Amino acid sequence: MSRDQWAAVDDYFIEHLVPADEILDATLAASAAAGLPDIQVSPPQGRLLRLLAEIRGARSILEIGTLGGYSTICLARGMAKDGSLTTLEIDPKHADVARANFALAGLADVIDLRLGPALDTLPELDGPFDLIFIDADRPSYPQFLPLVLSLSRAGTVIVADNVVRKGAVVDPNTPDAGVRGVRQFIEDVSRHPRLDATLMQTVGVKGYDGFTLARVIS
Ligand code: SAH
Ligand code: DHB
Ligand code: MG
Repeated sequence: MSRDQWAAVDDYFIEHLVPADEILDATLAASAAAGLPDIQVSPPQGRLLRLLAEIRGARSILEIGTLGGYSTICLARGMAKDGSLTTLEIDPKHADVARANFALAGLADVIDLRLGPALDTLPELDGPFDLIFIDADRPSYPQFLPLVLSLSRAGTVIVADNVVRKGAVVDPNTPDAGVRGVRQFIEDVSRHPRLDATLMQTVGVKGYDGFTLARVIS
């Protein structure tokens, strides 16, 4: 199987399962026009985030890593009617693009974007959150874990993106700080008494990667 085939299969399912969406298309166009990197979740992954929010009946959602707000909008769309979402972004340019996209989506009132390094903004937040999506700064994943757990309660769902990285995660001697961060994160999650977790490897338009899905037990 080649990357082209993975992408063709993703495209097939995108055509059949992911409804065309002018707002999300406009979000991606504005992000590209502003020169943001093309690293947002894929359309099926965005759909998964929305479905998870709906399945969880999430009223409060936290995201680490906004970029242009593509995944943020997917999550916010799945949120319960009276819900609110907090998203953390370090880059002011990304934050500006995202805020414009939230306004375009009619979601500016329910999304609170906090500018700054997540390790600084996380301790300022009031939890608990029902759903937490970690999608930034892989070297810091192990430091994010206790902070997001202090913002969780029984039933909180935690998704952590980009934990496979073309399989690099299995190399114990990797020099890559992001992969080292992910390995420590996975070990901490696996040992943690408050967490049940699994891992899904993914292939598709974004190549070969994967995400961790965890549930806070207590
Ligand atoms: N969730 C987005 C993609 C996020 S890409 C989507 O799927 O649409 C990762 C983002 O995290 C980038 O915008 C980057 O600027 C931001 N970031 C990186 N390190 C960060 C940190 N320490 N705190 C907050 N944001 C960070
Ligand atoms: C990168 C970051 C992501 O969050 C992602 O999903 C894919 C790639 C990156 O930094 O290259
Ligand atoms: Mg990601």
